[in-house]
Amino acid sequence: MLNKKVEDILNDQLEKEGYSSNLYLAMASWAATNGYEGIANWLLAQAEEEREHMLKIIAYVNERGGKAIIPAFEKPPVEYEDVKPMFEQVLKHEQYVTASINDIVAVCEQEKDFTTHNWVQWFVNEQIEEESSASNILDKLNLLGEGPLYMFDRDIMSLRGE
Ligand code: FEO
Repeated sequence: MLNKKVEDILNDQLEKEGYSSNLYLAMASWAATNGYEGIANWLLAQAEEEREHMLKIIAYVNERGGKAIIPAFEKPPVEYEDVKPMFEQVLKHEQYVTASINDIVAVCEQEKDFTTHNWVQWFVNEQIEEESSASNILDKLNLLGEGPLYMFDRDIMSLRGE
């Protein structure tokens, strides 16, 4: 049986994952209607991943004798200033999610729920990837600001081994 504090924090987390999914969906929609099809596709895939994170938590809570609660989600922003600030927002959001996963780890330790502690490690690792892919995109966007050098960087890749 799932400890009540652990159950509550997992319910909070599933709401955050669902909101993340909707946030990236809203960003994807903005990107698609502003002519950025590649960016929209990246965000759509990300939205799918976040939905899977939410489903993973729902399944776990219910399996362990708890009750997963499906909340009403806050409406994400509709308009975004530009591509770069949008990805800055993605990175900031992922850092917020990482902090909240770390809070789950701390509650598991306090409550001596080592099963959930073990299970949540998947999310700990996933957050490393999520933060790193958002910050890689920001690096690329920063390089793009340098125009020709970015093109050169793309170019030099195809020269390898010649
Ligand atoms: Fe599921 Fe990007 O946190």
